[in-house]
Amino acid sequence: MAESTSTATSSALRLQGKVAIVTGGASGIGEATAWVFAEEGARMVVIGDIQDELGKEVAASVGRHRCSYVHCDVAEEDEVQRLVESTVKEYGQLDIMFSNAGTASPSMQTVTELDMSQLDRLFAVNVRGMAACVKHAARAMVEGRVRGSIVCTGSVAGSVGSLSRTDYTMSKHAVLGLMRSASMQLAEHGIRVNSVSPNGLVTPLTCKMSGVREEEVREAYRKYARLQGVVLTPKMVADAVLFLVSDESAFVTGLDLKVDGGFTYGGQ
Ligand SMILES: NC(=O)c1ccc[n+]([C@@H]2O[C@H](COP(=O)([O-])OP(=O)(O)OC[C@H]3O[C@@H](n4cnc5c(N)ncnc54)[C@H](O)[C@@H]3O)[C@@H](O)[C@H]2O)c1
Repeated sequence: MAESTSTATSSALRLQGKVAIVTGGASGIGEATAWVFAEEGARMVVIGDIQDELGKEVAASVGRHRCSYVHCDVAEEDEVQRLVESTVKEYGQLDIMFSNAGTASPSMQTVTELDMSQLDRLFAVNVRGMAACVKHAARAMVEGRVRGSIVCTGSVAGSVGSLSRTDYTMSKHAVLGLMRSASMQLAEHGIRVNSVSPNGLVTPLTCKMSGVREEEVREAYRKYARLQGVVLTPKMVADAVLFLVSDESAFVTGLDLKVDGGFTYGGQ
């Protein structure tokens, strides 16, 4: 379970009173972000995930007075709609949607070996699920006249091609198209839409995907960063998300904030 390292003080809380949803908040980047949101004063952080036991554990350790868990498979639009509607009903409004839930196919999915049913399942979560979260969050914000903030989790795989994992790379390129379109369409309502695109980092997703130990995953990703001497952690991604949902980025919309140690610099 992620432990907090936040140094926020009560006088400088950046999300005071905000209501946030974090999809995929039971683990990895989402879990780290749920912690950061709560510690920055969010009134309630609602985790939506499919790992019920884990999600409930995370919510309990963050604190039931500031974090709750709702089962939500983002691939099912009606579940996303229920997640958003129940949040608004219970806590009055939705200020922040961190649409972060994502997955990877079990096989490498090179172009010549694409398994279309794996591709469909991946797209149902990474693309359709992401779109459903943006759609229903935006509706709630427009209806509630909330000048909210939506952040989608992209990836460095959204900006460059890949030698494998074609379906994942395609799905993360699609996230950028969604984010950019939504940011243009929702600007008139004062709603900001951005994405955060991390480099590879150790999370349960990448450990499961590669089937090796954490240290080996960390070592494998080290070569993808130009920036030396820093190892990317979920907390670093969460801090970038915090920037995007806080007033510190009040005039920022349509941005893909890369947390990649310079990996995609120059389109490499
Ligand atoms: N770890 C990396 O190297 C890396 C790099 C770039 C981007 N990302 C992206 O970051 C996001 C979070 O991934 P992570 O690395 O923290 O992995 P993770 O597996 O630790 O967390 C992902 C969470 O999403 C949940 N989830 C999966 N399918 C879902 C569904 N259909 N409905 C609701 N929840 C679902 C999982 O249960 C899990 O709790 C993903 O979108 C991933 O693509 C990860």
